Amino acid sequence: MGVGRVKLTCTINGARLEADGLWEGESLLYALRERFGLYGSKNACEQGECGSCSVYLDGALVCACLVLAGQAEGRQVMTVEGLADSAGLHPVQQAFVEAGAVQCGFCTPGFVVATHDLLRRVPNPDEAHIREALAGNICRCTGYAKIIDAVNLAAERVP
Ligand code: FES
Ligand code: FES
Repeated sequence: MGVGRVKLTCTINGARLEADGLWEGESLLYALRERFGLYGSKNACEQGECGSCSVYLDGALVCACLVLAGQAEGRQVMTVEGLADSAGLHPVQQAFVEAGAVQCGFCTPGFVVATHDLLRRVPNPDEAHIREALAGNICRCTGYAKIIDAVNLAAERVP
């Protein structure tokens, strides 16, 4: 192990995982993608501006590009991959597909996680609520109307 390298042990999507040799300034986003092979969280801006890297850290929605990987030590991370289960896609994921809210798809994982977070706090959000909750997520393709449709569809289905 070289100077300035750190080890990370944390729980990701329910599994205890470990990686060694991370550099001290490495982001959680980089670790998720490059150490753990979880490519669902996207890297678009690396500045907390686009929301494409949204994940849960101990149940709180964060931009993984703004969190140091070392900050996740001993903690619980959930990524977009963790929302699906053996029965298939999570209702939020399915709603995005069915509403046509996925075009290039680059923003989609972030929107899905942010929508999941919104619906667990506000089960039946109105459009203003939805727009406010998703204000940190940027989509260059859809014009947002279909994303709003997807959130409404998901709200009807999420238990
Ligand atoms: S890549 Fe993290 S907010 Fe854009
Ligand atoms: S679907 Fe392309 S950026 Fe949103």
